[in-house]
Amino acid sequence: MRLSLRFVLPLILVLAGFAWAIVPLVDQFTLRWFVRDMDIRSALIANTITESLLEQVAAGSKVKTANFFVRITQDERLYAIGYCATPQTAPLASKLLPADIRCDNLARFETAGDHLLKSTSGPLLVSVKPLESAGVPMGKLVLVHDMSFVERRSEETRRYVFFFFAGLAAVISLITVIIAQLSWRGWVQGMRALLRGEGLLRQPEANIERPEFQPEFRPIARDLQRLIRELESEALSRDEGQTTWTAESLRAILQGELRGEDVIVVSNREPYIHQRKGERIEVQRPASGLVTAMEPIMRACSGTWIAHGSGSADREVVDKHDHVQVPPEHPAYQIRRLWLTPEEEAGYYFGFANEGLWPLCHIAHVRPIFRSSDWAQYEAVNRKFARAVVEESKTRAPIVLVQDYHFALLPRMIRELLPDATVITFWHIPWPNPESFSICPWREQIVSGLLGSSILGFHTQSHCNNFVDTVDRLLEARVDRESFRVSLGGHTTAVRRYPISIDWPPAPEMVGKPVAQCREEIRRANGLPQEHALGIGVDRLDYTKGIVERFRAIERLLELKPEWIGRFSFIQIAAPTRSSIEEYQSHEAQVRALATRINERFSRSGRAGPPPILLKIEHHEPQQVYEHYRASEICFVSSLHDGMNLVAKEFVASRDDERGVLILSQFTGAARELPEALIVNPYDADQCAAALHLALSMPAQEQRDRMRLMRSLIGEFNVYRWAGRMLLDAAIMRRRGRLPDATAVATAGGSNG
Ligand code: G6P
Repeated sequence: MRLSLRFVLPLILVLAGFAWAIVPLVDQFTLRWFVRDMDIRSALIANTITESLLEQVAAGSKVKTANFFVRITQDERLYAIGYCATPQTAPLASKLLPADIRCDNLARFETAGDHLLKSTSGPLLVSVKPLESAGVPMGKLVLVHDMSFVERRSEETRRYVFFFFAGLAAVISLITVIIAQLSWRGWVQGMRALLRGEGLLRQPEANIERPEFQPEFRPIARDLQRLIRELESEALSRDEGQTTWTAESLRAILQGELRGEDVIVVSNREPYIHQRKGERIEVQRPASGLVTAMEPIMRACSGTWIAHGSGSADREVVDKHDHVQVPPEHPAYQIRRLWLTPEEEAGYYFGFANEGLWPLCHIAHVRPIFRSSDWAQYEAVNRKFARAVVEESKTRAPIVLVQDYHFALLPRMIRELLPDATVITFWHIPWPNPESFSICPWREQIVSGLLGSSILGFHTQSHCNNFVDTVDRLLEARVDRESFRVSLGGHTTAVRRYPISIDWPPAPEMVGKPVAQCREEIRRANGLPQEHALGIGVDRLDYTKGIVERFRAIERLLELKPEWIGRFSFIQIAAPTRSSIEEYQSHEAQVRALATRINERFSRSGRAGPPPILLKIEHHEPQQVYEHYRASEICFVSSLHDGMNLVAKEFVASRDDERGVLILSQFTGAARELPEALIVNPYDADQCAAALHLALSMPAQEQRDRMRLMRSLIGEFNVYRWAGRMLLDAAIMRRRGRLPDATAVATAGGSNG
């Protein structure tokens, strides 16, 4: 509308100016026509009355001539008439003949043609016609016409011209507005449809409103779509390369690209757990890669984190809406705690999520267990979280970041309740191949639940490939392998790789204590000599982490290189986890027994000294963990299968002294990003033992070279980039999604996170 006005107003002004310029011209033209008409009229009158007038003049009757003139001037347009026999005589004239018309000055009126005179009664036209009889000149007839009617006529003409141009302006404006509106709406709809990946390419049944667009524009539309996609992803990757990703840049994206939209995170595990310890309430930070990654993001963008309130004092610290502000020292966002009954927790968390999906997705040779009662709880709890998302949304279109395998059904449930929401789901664990996944009795429901997401993220491309292959195998969905988009029931999900990472640079309190001090304190606390070589492992006590294989590798090292006996110890921090599950209990027993056996074996070997393995099955706060990293020569990550593994990245981040060696399992996502680590197969004890020996003997310069390369990669690909990349993709989708159809979310630019 504004655009139309911007066009119409100048148009009206131009037309008014045009009318203003044209009126005097029209006046001139009409006057000239009237003068010509009057002249013809004068000639006619002269010809008509010549004979009678000359007869009366010849008869010498002035009275009769005067009467004759009175009769003629009854014509309203003939003002006066006069006759000059010779220039010397006085004119015989009707009463109104102007005094300045005399017989001796008629030449003045003749030479200039018809002559206009001004009088008190208006303009007069003087016309002089010579008379003759049988070829002999007989004097001159003077006709004076009243021209005031010309003024009346031009007044009318001016009015007509004005109305004509006003009408013209109105018609043109109206046509312009209508065309502008129609074509603008058409363009917008056309572009929206195009950006949604349909529009001109829409299938015939969906294109009823504009069927004429379809066949002839299809190739152009396809090229245009491709071009738009290329330009967008080019612009993004260019900007991404130039961006230094920090909490501030992430905040700027949220405020700029997403205009401070409503951000909600959903995960099972909460980032702060309140535990009652006698009279005191302690705040714990759980050992979870997911929490490690999401926490700095939430600090940067505020919003609400919905999670299971699992701490013994969690209920004591929430407000009446079950909210608690965190971090406790400097509140930056809020947790909304959801309470689960023991039955819900047993079925949804311990049962379906951790006895079913967890072993299903990790190839760690532990059989998944599927119970229909667990599945029912899993569904019910997902629904409970979906309702909480609706309660916490300030708008109808929040950005919801759904985390992990606890919530495979949640994306579709959210989509049903809040169709305009942008749901970004991140699957933090591996996705197996279709054969392995197919053993799950509820495989179709899980895959279809996840396809309620706008974006579905995995750590690696092979997990994306496995997911898309699984969809292909299980569902009647449209899979576009070029753009990695899956469409099911009219909704499209972009399947993307976003390798997760950590906070960078690490918070000052994590690396505040000097390396020398950490080395000294940790050794002293464990009764180790100051020159003693130290290795570190930090994991949840989970069978996927390869702790047993790690201990076997240490045992093998001491067998193959006995010079390390009594000179090298390995501290294994193992955070207790899911301990009510049988498999975890037996795993813990196995780990304890193995550590004891190895320690006994090498203390019996005659070279008494510190034990090779120091097993600490207890919770450690992040700061303590960092001190252990900084105190050690080696960090050993031997997961049998791991989506990413952030311990590897944390170890590198903690070593601002550029020392220390990372030994990393080839079965972690991290191994693809950190090839400068010593990459090992955890099932190959000899290879791992060789890596341990190599690491313990590695010259300082080589340690520095490897560490620098890894540090620069993590510095660049930190957790802000991980989240920023997903949110930028979400922002593109939402811009397209202002478009009415939620399928627009599918066409976000590719990720190279
Ligand atoms: C893995 C999962 C996370 C989970 C974490 C800790 O990293 O991907 O979702 O939070 O383990 O497990 P827990 O069961 O103790 O929350």
